Amino acid sequence: MKEKLEKLAKLKREASLGGGIEKIESQHSKGKLTARERIAFLIDEGSLEEIDMFVKHRSSDFGMTDQRIPGDGVVTGFARINGRPVAIFSQDFTVFGGSLSETHAEKICKIMDMAMKIGIPIIGLNDSGGARIQEGVISLGGYADIFLRNTLASGVIPQISAILGPCAGGAVYSPAITDFIFMVKNTSHMFVTGPNVVKTVTHEDVSFEALGGAETHASKSGVAHFISDSEMEVFHNIRKLLEFLPSNWKDTPQEKNFDFNQNLLCPGLDEIIPDSPNKPYDMHQIISNLVDDSEFLEVHSEYAQNIIVGFGRIGGLAVGVIANQPSVLAGVLDINASVKGARFIRFCDAFNIPLLVLEDVPGFLPGTEQEWNGIIRHGSKLLFAFCEATVPKVTVIVRKAYGGAYDVMNSKHIRGDFNYAWPSAEIAVMGPKGAVEIIFKKEISKAEDHELKLNEKLNEYIEKFANPYIAAERGFIDDVINPSETRLRLVNAFQLLKNKVDNNPKKKHCNIPL
Ligand code: HXC
Repeated sequence: MKEKLEKLAKLKREASLGGGIEKIESQHSKGKLTARERIAFLIDEGSLEEIDMFVKHRSSDFGMTDQRIPGDGVVTGFARINGRPVAIFSQDFTVFGGSLSETHAEKICKIMDMAMKIGIPIIGLNDSGGARIQEGVISLGGYADIFLRNTLASGVIPQISAILGPCAGGAVYSPAITDFIFMVKNTSHMFVTGPNVVKTVTHEDVSFEALGGAETHASKSGVAHFISDSEMEVFHNIRKLLEFLPSNWKDTPQEKNFDFNQNLLCPGLDEIIPDSPNKPYDMHQIISNLVDDSEFLEVHSEYAQNIIVGFGRIGGLAVGVIANQPSVLAGVLDINASVKGARFIRFCDAFNIPLLVLEDVPGFLPGTEQEWNGIIRHGSKLLFAFCEATVPKVTVIVRKAYGGAYDVMNSKHIRGDFNYAWPSAEIAVMGPKGAVEIIFKKEISKAEDHELKLNEKLNEYIEKFANPYIAAERGFIDDVINPSETRLRLVNAFQLLKNKVDNNPKKKHCNIPL
């Protein structure tokens, strides 16, 4: 037995070296960690249960028979993060550049299938040259097997992708289907076709970083939800994110202990809205006053900054926050903001995370650019996402709620559970100036002093409509509250809604406007 144990230890030692010391050094010299080091930094210490360490590829073309490395370029298994189980795979660039072979794909599919059966999140650490070229269509089949599983797992278990090296060609579509993508500045690259192909086809000169680096995908394309300066920061942020998520769609996020006797009043909020309705302010200030310990994990923080989305806790309960940002484009809803908001809402709804909406929105962005690119199609995604969501939904209108945007931003009419407004709220079909110029056009043009008449009508309109009380008269707003008591009201609202049950009609699936 002793010999057998020694043999096992030797085989495991060899397997754990992946492509060997030289390749590990080369990986380090690029500022990248190895597949195993990454797992070790991400998970609770010593919690990895690795499987399929001895799997080797079956390919024999192009001299591959002599190059069968145990593990075949991916480390897979189960581990604990914050004490909770997860499934994990980490591609090993030291073995054929982390390229995906038939067996490499089988290993990933195996843990995905297990993660689905058990109901635990799956985390993929991607660092790969794509399909294993020596295996041809067999490796393409492997990708398709993963894509199918990503799709079937969507909305069942949280799926998290970290891109820690190259991720090119069709390979990008696996992370793209998952719920969250993390990238590292300067080392992660995602593109469907690389700079060389781009040069040939479109004659554009573009670097790897500019085409598909972390900054690009965080701010321009919206592909990356979180970006970091280092891999270690990625692992820290994944752990943070998981704190807000349940393990699967039947589960609820873990509740944190909360002292309900603490002072929940926030006097600073009474001063936050500027006297002039056109003056911007930073919505982050309101969010940090409302969430527990001012802790807010912002998602997509560099993309479509006119809307803010992210996770926080209120009264110990995890919530997803969707907030207009008056300091960027006056908080207007455009195509990118609509898509960003909709995707986030659907994630939260799929995983039983209640929604808090903080509203200060002048409407949808006008213009040919928006119309021709489909603000109708894309704006409807946000509306659709709010309408279909059955999780607890609470809205606070802090200032503007104009036009269709009033309806869209989780109004009472689309199943907002508690809809509050601050006394500074302005709820109407459109802003005062636009409205007065339309409905009093003739009167103003006939007046001797146009300016005087316009101002007279403006004041009349503001007095009548630029307030929350007409909506409150109808019950569209449940209460007009002091800003300083908002946190208290939200803690109570989300506690009350904890056991809320609401359903949508049975169907095969909905047809969200795509
Ligand atoms: C087999 C690969 C490989 C691949 C890299 N290697 N990519 N082996 N299949 N796809 C191997 C290299 O031969 C090399 O082996 C080792 O990995 C490290 O690669 P280097 O090129 O030395 O590393 P680096 O300079 O860092 O460049 C990394 C890279 C480059 C940018 C990823 O290797 C590259 O461009 N690879 C090809 C990428 C690609 O076109 N893949 C197919 C995409 S299409 P040795 O033994 O020399 O160390 C695709 C379709 C998916 O993936 C479709 C799904 C629908």
